[in-house]
Amino acid sequence: MSPRRDVTVDRDETRRPVARFADEPEEALEAGLRPRRLADFVGQARVKEHLAIVLEAARRRQQPVDHLLFAGPPGLGKTTLAGIVATEMGAGLRVTSGAALQRGGDLAAILTGLLPGDVLFIDEIHRLAPPVEEILYPAMEDFQIDIVIGKGPTARSVRLDVPSFTLVGATTRTGLVTGPLRDRFGFVTRLEHYAPDELEEIVRRTGRLLAVECSPEGAAEIARRARGTPRLAIRLLRRVRDFVEVRGEGVITLEAARAGCDVFGVDEMGLDRLDRQILEVLCVRFSGRPVGLATLAVSVGEEPETIEDVYEPYLLQAGFVMRTPRGRVAAPAAWLHLGLPVPPDGGDGSGPPGADEASTLFGT
Ligand SMILES: Nc1ncnc2c1ncn2[C@@H]1O[C@H](COP(=O)(O)OP(=O)(O)OP(=O)(O)O)[C@@H](O)[C@H]1O
Ligand SMILES: [Mg+2]
Repeated sequence: MSPRRDVTVDRDETRRPVARFADEPEEALEAGLRPRRLADFVGQARVKEHLAIVLEAARRRQQPVDHLLFAGPPGLGKTTLAGIVATEMGAGLRVTSGAALQRGGDLAAILTGLLPGDVLFIDEIHRLAPPVEEILYPAMEDFQIDIVIGKGPTARSVRLDVPSFTLVGATTRTGLVTGPLRDRFGFVTRLEHYAPDELEEIVRRTGRLLAVECSPEGAAEIARRARGTPRLAIRLLRRVRDFVEVRGEGVITLEAARAGCDVFGVDEMGLDRLDRQILEVLCVRFSGRPVGLATLAVSVGEEPETIEDVYEPYLLQAGFVMRTPRGRVAAPAAWLHLGLPVPPDGGDGSGPPGADEASTLFGT
């Protein structure tokens, strides 16, 4: 096992799309708040139990942990868990992303530069280019890579050993991870949205780290409005902290939490402006008829991927929206939330005749 405990960030990160740089301060802050040990990771009891067994078994065998794939909506702790795996194994962590690795040579260089036992974290692993994935297969299975030397008729393939390592992959889109890649992970797990009491614990923990005074009721209110997502709970806590520092006494009470969330457009169900816009499109503009993803995205002025990855998972899970073969449909809870009468068909998507025109035009 490698004695190294440092954290290295791959230089290829600089090749991320420019838009990502806007998030840098947020990312730096997140990094500081991340739990480092499995014991400090709140919630996800099942994942934690499995992971504890897998890590302990690997430690006893003095072998690197089997490759791990974490899937699930953004902000639930995938990157955090990758860091925890490295810390718990006393291993080095190398971080890169599927979008940054576009050429096979990029990955080959990273793999040959690893130390035995290192954890290689590939974020957004569903975005790996096919030639890069080809290099990854033998590396994951046999810790070997095939590289081609020379060009044309004189080109030959050479097999190189790489240090044994643990690949930790993260994806918001399990469906886009190819079968062969998925099959090479020894442990695939999906993170689910957090229960309110788990989020409350995360808010209290973060409050302590940020030295914000927060009453138990204030923490519970922020947790309740955080859509089951630690990242949103932490973000909301920081906004409410701003609010109480400027407009209040600097203490997050229940009233202050409510008022702060309201000011920032997060309603009592944790829905923001765009969530409510989605519900309005489904209930009002399309009168409860099924709506295809592309139509929905255009109607609210967002990318279909953003709707599918960021907004929809919670709306589906919280029972506001249903997915039917003919498109997205508002559930009764959506009508009630907007203060509208639930239609006679219960908002189950059967709608009036010819209702699914939009979804057949644009697909789901
Ligand atoms: N179980 C948890 N306990 C405490 N804090 C958590 C937990 N899960 C996530 N967090 C915090 O939430 C924030 C977001 O987590 P993280 O970056 O790991 O999410 P992610 O799943 O990698 O998101 P993305 O898909 O956008 O990359 C971090 O600041 C992290 O500290
Ligand atoms: Mg992440």
